[in-house]
Amino acid sequence: MRTPMVVANWKMHGRLAEARELAQAVRDGLKRPRGVEVAICPPFTALAAVAEVLAGSPLMLGAQNCHWEESGAFTGEVSPAMLAELGCRLVVLGHSERRHSSRETDEEIRRKVAAALRHRLQPVLCVGETAEERRQGLTFTVVEGQLRAGLAGLPAEDLVRCTIAYEPVWAIGTGLTATPSQAAEVHGYLRGLLSELGSKESAQAIRILYGGSVKPDNAGSFAQEPEIDGALVGGASLQAASFITIAKKSAAKSGASKE
Ligand code: 13P
Repeated sequence: MRTPMVVANWKMHGRLAEARELAQAVRDGLKRPRGVEVAICPPFTALAAVAEVLAGSPLMLGAQNCHWEESGAFTGEVSPAMLAELGCRLVVLGHSERRHSSRETDEEIRRKVAAALRHRLQPVLCVGETAEERRQGLTFTVVEGQLRAGLAGLPAEDLVRCTIAYEPVWAIGTGLTATPSQAAEVHGYLRGLLSELGSKESAQAIRILYGGSVKPDNAGSFAQEPEIDGALVGGASLQAASFITIAKKSAAKSGASKE
């Protein structure tokens, strides 16, 4: 029912020439990905260039953030309409780096999710606890709060158009990962909440990706967990060979979907 998805989050990396080269190498290495959907999220400045490279390929283009308004006096912001016009199909929202360094609130993230959906962009809503929150036994409380707030008020038909990414903050860029079973436990909890917010059927259709130090050598073990539907990849997505390996290892076996 769920085809795994692997999303490259390049973060603030990729000047134009590098971005074109990296996107081209990924495109060449994943001409017809089987059993996995693949997306690349470059910085805003490289979206148009990467869109050209990906044209005609099954790889999707995504952005790393958007504003909730269509247009207006919002200096430095980019609207979902602008992203859709460039060919973006998805947008990462509520990434912990934005929650923490840019002080994004749950309410802002909720508005962004709703705005992205209005423009037919698939939101990839990120949730995750800090090391301290995990130590205090607050993991489920934190991710529940972020999930409920980010998706509040969405009708069931919009809920199924969202993708969730569980990214424990302590695993991002640190080389530490949640174990596949730790991640699967949180994914299972999130799926239970999604059933409450929509229905059991819609919850089964929503992908929950894992992110946080996913590398070629651990991607396969995450993929084996039925509750993990792919990966949101930071550092390792900056090397074409690593990202291609992760995508291949995340693919559903023999093209089957999860569940
Ligand atoms: P790393 O893969 O570099 O840990 O980053 C994960 C991430 O933040 C993806 O959004």
